[in-house]
Amino acid sequence: MRLSSPFFHAPVLLLWGWCWLLPDAALAEPALFSPRDRIHPVFAPNGMVVSQEARASEIGLDILKKGGDAVDAAVAVGFALAVTLPQAGNLGGGGFMLTYNAQTRQTEAIDFRETAPAAAGRDLYLNEQGNVDEARIRFSHQAAGVPGTVAGLALAHERHGRLPWRQLVEPAAQLAERGFPVDAELARSLRETRERMASWPASMKSFFKADGSTYQPGETLAQPDLAASLKLIAEQGSKAFYEGEIAQKLVADMTAHQGLITLDDLKNYRALVRAPVRGNYRGYEIVSMPPPSSGGAHLIQILNILETWPLGELGHNSAATIHRMAEAMKLAYADRSEYLGDPDFTKVPVAGLISKAYAKELAASIDPNRAKPATAIKPGQPQRHESEQTTHYSVVDRDGNAVAVTYTLNFGYGSGIVAAGTGILLNNEMDDFAAKPGVPNAYGLIGGDANAVGPGKRPLSSMTPTLVFRNGQLLLVTGSPGGSRIITTVLQILLNVIDHGMNIAEATVAPRVHHQWLPDELRIEEGLSPDTVRLLEAWGHKVVVKDTMGDTQSIVRAPEGLYGFPDTRWAGGSAAGY
Ligand code: DON
Repeated sequence: MRLSSPFFHAPVLLLWGWCWLLPDAALAEPALFSPRDRIHPVFAPNGMVVSQEARASEIGLDILKKGGDAVDAAVAVGFALAVTLPQAGNLGGGGFMLTYNAQTRQTEAIDFRETAPAAAGRDLYLNEQGNVDEARIRFSHQAAGVPGTVAGLALAHERHGRLPWRQLVEPAAQLAERGFPVDAELARSLRETRERMASWPASMKSFFKADGSTYQPGETLAQPDLAASLKLIAEQGSKAFYEGEIAQKLVADMTAHQGLITLDDLKNYRALVRAPVRGNYRGYEIVSMPPPSSGGAHLIQILNILETWPLGELGHNSAATIHRMAEAMKLAYADRSEYLGDPDFTKVPVAGLISKAYAKELAASIDPNRAKPATAIKPGQPQRHESEQTTHYSVVDRDGNAVAVTYTLNFGYGSGIVAAGTGILLNNEMDDFAAKPGVPNAYGLIGGDANAVGPGKRPLSSMTPTLVFRNGQLLLVTGSPGGSRIITTVLQILLNVIDHGMNIAEATVAPRVHHQWLPDELRIEEGLSPDTVRLLEAWGHKVVVKDTMGDTQSIVRAPEGLYGFPDTRWAGGSAAGY
């Protein structure tokens, strides 16, 4: 709770007398600690890495302690997660990085999203009946876009790194070679994915014992092929992946299985530097991912709409607040379906989408007491005003530089296919294209022309690595996995900190809600009160309780140091600081 909140009454202050000692500034800013908080974040005075896997966090921390900056640590964590969190950490996928240089005060977006191979045509994934061939777009070699991760990490290092590249890749190579003890979560998820991998000998060799059986918690998983790939990358840089021995092996595997990725596709792949999208919410500056992610544009669009109402007063997760959030989310996701795609191929009206005037118009269309059915919502006219397993990690170094990375194979373990001899799992990011107009992808998202399959094109993403500033000072670094739910998950971290005055731990564990226009349902996590749900239903929402959403990894920067919190929805995350 915010210390200045009306709920913070005099008797409480008397009870907690030491609160008076807090500096005035703490009263105006989001609370970092309050005696009323039920859960507290991890504190570190200098630098911090928060990721979904503890060994990777430690590797990043070690780089920070050795004088590496936030980007060096982020590169090392990116490679480490490819070993220790094979569900999402990757070399064979792609993603997005936001960097902040505290000295120059520059923020930069690095786009290392996968691209469609040159041979990928618009109707590639339609079968003879004209329907989307789901097995092909999700679980075959043709599901893979040209991977961007290695190029992205290399570009980030080239632009912002301090330590030698080799030093950043070697810890991951060693972990892959020596192996590490499998934890209960990895053992469970490998068991669940066994069927998907069973048809691919290289996948079985990488993740199962020689007799095909599963690793038990505590047993050591070594990945010698992956270790060899990482060593090549450590020694030769990204060229090893895009033009050298790894490229040869990836393409040989593609050729053997009707895959589309060629040596030229790999050679032509480029990670790109883009200008982040920027918005302003109640005086906080929001910096997030531009297209080809839908994340940043729609995060800011939804925030702009919600600025209309005093959410802090309406109350956290009250029916009144959730109703406004859901209505705003629907409008944004309807626009997403129409306008969002790769900006190098289609004109995306970002300026319109994030304009305050457009938000005002959309807010005016929201009835405070009635849910608008999805069928009554169409994509708006932003032009007139002219972003089951992904992972996010956040880093802040002692100089205040920051990095937010969200990267993915799309599904957990991507397509489940390891390219023979490389130890590298292939992504199934092609499913993020609108393979057929109006037909939902795995996350229920629909799209049309703007996100149609096309050679060299980047599939639309929802990944939303985000930085928040206050008076020019870095305040928050955050992001999440969760497919279509990423945008609304990040949204709720921001609302919980800014409007509801929560510390980052409380902001993370609070139950989440989500609406994406279609399907027309308000999805909630366990933990909302039954009478809140009843009110929402009375106002016309179809409320459904489903699995948890997102897995945020966040850092808040305060004058005295850093407060980090790994989401508790998945086991194994850690905030490592010094
Ligand atoms: O780029 C995207 O939006 C998706 N490929 C992300 C997938 C994802 O987050 C899965 N994790 N839960």
